Amino acid sequence: MTERLESREKVTGAARYAFEYPVENVAYAAAVQASVGRGEVLSVDIEAAQRLPGVLAVLSHENAPRVDSEPDGELALFQSRTVSYRGQFVAAVIGETLETAREAARLVRVEYAAEDPDVRLRTDHPGLYKPDKVNPVFPADTELGEPEAAFTDSAVRVDVTYTTPAEHNNPMEPHTTLALWDKDGSLLLYDSTQGASSVQSTIAKVFGLDPTQVRVIAPHVGGGFGSKGSPRPNVVLAAMGARVTGRPVKFAVPRQQMFATTGYRTPTVQRFRLGADPDGRLNAILHDVFEQTSTVREFAEQTATPTRTMYQAPNRRTSHRLVALDVPTPSWMRAPGETPGMYALESVMDELAVVTGVDPVELRVRNDTDREPESGLPFSSRNLVACLQEGADRFGWAGRDPAPGVRREGRRLVGTGVAASTYPAYMQPGRAIARAEPDGTFTVRIAAADIGTGARTALTLIAAETLKEDIDRVTVEIGDSAFPRASVAGGSSGTASWGTAVVRACESLRGRLNGEVPPEGLEASADTSAEVKNRDEYARHAFGAQFAEVEVDADTAEICVRRMLGVFAVGRVLNPMTARSQFIGGMTMGIGMALMEESVMDGEFGDYLNRDLAQYHVPSCADVRDVDAFWVEESDPHLNPMGSKGIGEIGIVGAAAAVGNAVHHATGVRVRDLPITPARLL
Ligand code: MOS
Repeated sequence: MTERLESREKVTGAARYAFEYPVENVAYAAAVQASVGRGEVLSVDIEAAQRLPGVLAVLSHENAPRVDSEPDGELALFQSRTVSYRGQFVAAVIGETLETAREAARLVRVEYAAEDPDVRLRTDHPGLYKPDKVNPVFPADTELGEPEAAFTDSAVRVDVTYTTPAEHNNPMEPHTTLALWDKDGSLLLYDSTQGASSVQSTIAKVFGLDPTQVRVIAPHVGGGFGSKGSPRPNVVLAAMGARVTGRPVKFAVPRQQMFATTGYRTPTVQRFRLGADPDGRLNAILHDVFEQTSTVREFAEQTATPTRTMYQAPNRRTSHRLVALDVPTPSWMRAPGETPGMYALESVMDELAVVTGVDPVELRVRNDTDREPESGLPFSSRNLVACLQEGADRFGWAGRDPAPGVRREGRRLVGTGVAASTYPAYMQPGRAIARAEPDGTFTVRIAAADIGTGARTALTLIAAETLKEDIDRVTVEIGDSAFPRASVAGGSSGTASWGTAVVRACESLRGRLNGEVPPEGLEASADTSAEVKNRDEYARHAFGAQFAEVEVDADTAEICVRRMLGVFAVGRVLNPMTARSQFIGGMTMGIGMALMEESVMDGEFGDYLNRDLAQYHVPSCADVRDVDAFWVEESDPHLNPMGSKGIGEIGIVGAAAAVGNAVHHATGVRVRDLPITPARLL
């Protein structure tokens, strides 16, 4: 058990976040958002804004520096008159103070030629199309056997549609950039990001620079949940403002503006058809997904991909259909794909359990498989059944009465539910440098990110273990694109990817260490590109099982999650303390998804109405009572030198289904549209 190495710095305020770097002569940016959902900017009247003392510049499509929109259309700020969605940035003010910038932004008058925005995802939308791929490289559709016929011929059939709403990531630290241009034309960015290296390369392209001319510093990041996995308009806005004014410029996206400009999870509509034998053995699985993207850029959430991994069935189909609406581009949010997809799959499995009378744990065991059903690949390890069994033991599942809506404790109806979890064990190439210092200590450098996960601590443990040194003698420096290039903190791949580079660099250094370290130190580096590329073919996934107990007020339908228990199989757990926090954090986010989180689209004006955490509800302490996480021993030689699978995302996967299934068990009401609010239960 190792505490977060930076915990003291964080709680004392010594840890610096992007907005907090003290720089001389800094100016502040404030953005103007489009007040129409679709159309063109006719004119931008900046006169009143410019009259305000302390206004340094007003930027819009009329005067903004030209940038390259190819890397990501959402980064092409002020490059055209087109308004692609309500809330898009159409102008900005740079001022001496934040207050001046904001007041001036309020005074900018933008005239539009407006059209009615098309913002409603529906399954009969004429614009629906099949994307070439879903994220990142999966086929949009798959089919094996005769799914339609097999479904029709099955003795037991479940045919239901689940929906999930748009959800916004809402990290505590908003998306923030401090930009400084040097006289030599290079750009320094203090940024709140999940990947300093990827911001460096993307922003270099946007501004037509060589990557060596851009440096991104991000040692501490206040959460991201995927929304900081790629640079956001704040980076471009701060850099443009700094270029135009010749001053360092800070821009933190206000919470109110995050709902349109920093990403969110697409809403989904998911039709599921399960055909089974009377004993619950699956014969056909059909999963058809409908979701949205924007007119700016295609983002295709891979919602049906976990269905390709989870359960055996000879006949199967998955499909994804997208429609490009006049909305902000959806993006990554914790376990994109797996989170909405497994919510639906694990809810419909519960429905099958009810219809067949097979216990929900046993139903999943009965449909377990030792090969990935659609790829045919062997699993590098798959311990779903062990998680289900250990979870059932710890939770006290045995002897559960399956009848819904019959357990009363005073005014409360009580029920329990289970759901499975899964998440792929990805690995990305990267590099690291390890140094032996003359004073006997070691320094490891890699452009990794710690967004609150404990990655810095895990990497230090990995380096110390490889060097066979005490952890106190090893320092791992991260969060700087000047360090060896690293992949983003995303896809639960960070520790596996960066850790492998750290191991290889430290091994190489150890091999070269014999006797005295020279006065200038001794250095070794590693590049894992070949190692990552040449891995044997296995289906590599983490698995888990989640159990929930809820009580529902029979009069008001208020729902309370009394306890929640997860058991996960994630390879070797490198640091139990931070691993447990990751699981519990994910499960907590699953409670939010099940009961609270909902971004509400205003069909008339065409944007998400939520503006803050009073309108976008996430669980508070009172909502999170008894949540605990465990893991099974799992030794998997096919992963990486640490033997670890990712842990950042699997905690949310299946969590909402476990809660929803418990609500059904408590009340007998099956709500198929998240979130499960009292209004939907009554
Ligand atoms: Mo995660 S949504 O892959 O940062």
